[in-house]
Amino acid sequence: MWIKLKALSSILSHLLIGIALVDANLRCYDTGNFTLNSTYGKNRDLILASLLPNVSANGGFFTASIGQNSNKIYALGMCRGDSTPNGCYTCLNASIQDLIASCPNRKEALSWGGDPPCLARYANRPFFGILELQPTDAGYNTADITSNLTQFDTIWESLMDRVVSKASSGSSTKYATGEADFTAFQTIHALMQCTPDLSHKDCDSCLRQSVSYYESCCRGKQGGYVQKPNCWFRWDLYPFYTRNASTAASLSPPPSPASPPPLSVNSTRKKGNYRSARWHAGFRKTLM
Ligand SMILES: *[C@@H]1O[C@H](CO)[C@@H](O)[C@H](O)[C@H]1NC(C)=O
Ligand SMILES: *[C@@H]1O[C@H](CO)[C@@H](O)[C@H](O)[C@H]1NC(C)=O
Ligand SMILES: *[C@@H]1O[C@H](CO)[C@@H](O)[C@H](O)[C@H]1NC(C)=O
Ligand SMILES: *[C@@H]1O[C@H](CO)[C@@H](O)[C@H](O)[C@H]1NC(C)=O
Ligand SMILES: *[C@@H]1O[C@H](CO)[C@@H](O)[C@H](O)[C@H]1NC(C)=O
Ligand SMILES: *[C@@H]1O[C@H](CO)[C@@H](O)[C@H](O)[C@H]1NC(C)=O
Ligand SMILES: *[C@@H]1O[C@H](CO)[C@@H](O)[C@H](O)[C@H]1NC(C)=O
Repeated sequence: MWIKLKALSSILSHLLIGIALVDANLRCYDTGNFTLNSTYGKNRDLILASLLPNVSANGGFFTASIGQNSNKIYALGMCRGDSTPNGCYTCLNASIQDLIASCPNRKEALSWGGDPPCLARYANRPFFGILELQPTDAGYNTADITSNLTQFDTIWESLMDRVVSKASSGSSTKYATGEADFTAFQTIHALMQCTPDLSHKDCDSCLRQSVSYYESCCRGKQGGYVQKPNCWFRWDLYPFYTRNASTAASLSPPPSPASPPPLSVNSTRKKGNYRSARWHAGFRKTLM
């Protein structure tokens, strides 16, 4: 079972200003509205429609802009690195429908929905290549890691470090997965991705802040995810992505410090439920 993060740091809560929460996997920015049938509204529909075929046809990432002056609109679409072209198309189609339905008159909005997720985003300002760390969407698995957390963390942190490096050093695609064995029976799986318009440095920064965010909210849990406008991160104790030799970080397990005790997984979690719950059920929800 996934729990959406609810606890907000009061220091950060001012960041909520300007963004209205509408749905679990969407953000409708409160930075301005357009009126129905306006040129901006027509441009939004046009650009979202053009995004749909072009993202999957261009390897899972596409940006576009149309219009002039105050009617100019920018849009970006990205699918997860292991999505098939069909999966990418289906995810974006649903996300775009959701955006239009949930943010009917907003000048700016983004969606991270789908499983595997895809990113659909538009705004009346240029945002390509610009690192934005807020809003953040995060969640964790309620089950705890019950074995020695110190030993677990050592392996986990080393894996995260390597997957961040691998993802951020990509050029046309900034996507990487990696695995590390904790015990003979327990493997940590991690996936990271940035929008490829980011620089190496900004991608690295986005992912590292996502990993830190997870550590500060959710350390000791058996899985979690953090999503930001420019990057996403997820880890779990089961393979939740399609491995691809060309993108995997091909990590061999680090030499184990003695042999760690078995990790006792709370088996009340069922893999199938866990995955579908990821996007559909019972999230407690907020953003920072
Ligand atoms: C935009 O419209 C929504 C309702 O759709 C409203 O709640 C919000 O306050 C409006 N924002 C601005 C900036 O006018
Ligand atoms: C928008 O345009 C449609 C079709 O031209 C029309 O039926 C509708 O009344 C218009 N809506 C507004 C709010 O102007
Ligand atoms: C998207 O693809 C369509 C069809 O391939 C093409 O006509 C259109 O110009 C593309 N859109 C943009 C914004 O490049
Ligand atoms: C997987 O790797 C192959 C090359 O090994 C590549 O052609 C294919 O596009 C990759 N698929 C994904 C989803 O990255
Ligand atoms: C796209 O979404 C619409 C509305 O949900 C749906 O009717 C349509 O079948 C979808 N198209 C594809 C190819 O998934
Ligand atoms: C956990 O492992 C660390 C490092 O191997 C060790 O120093 C520590 O005593 C262990 N803690 C427990 C509670 O077993
Ligand atoms: C597993 O989780 C359930 C529900 O969260 C809890 O009641 C149970 O005590 C846990 N078992 C172990 C071995 O941690």
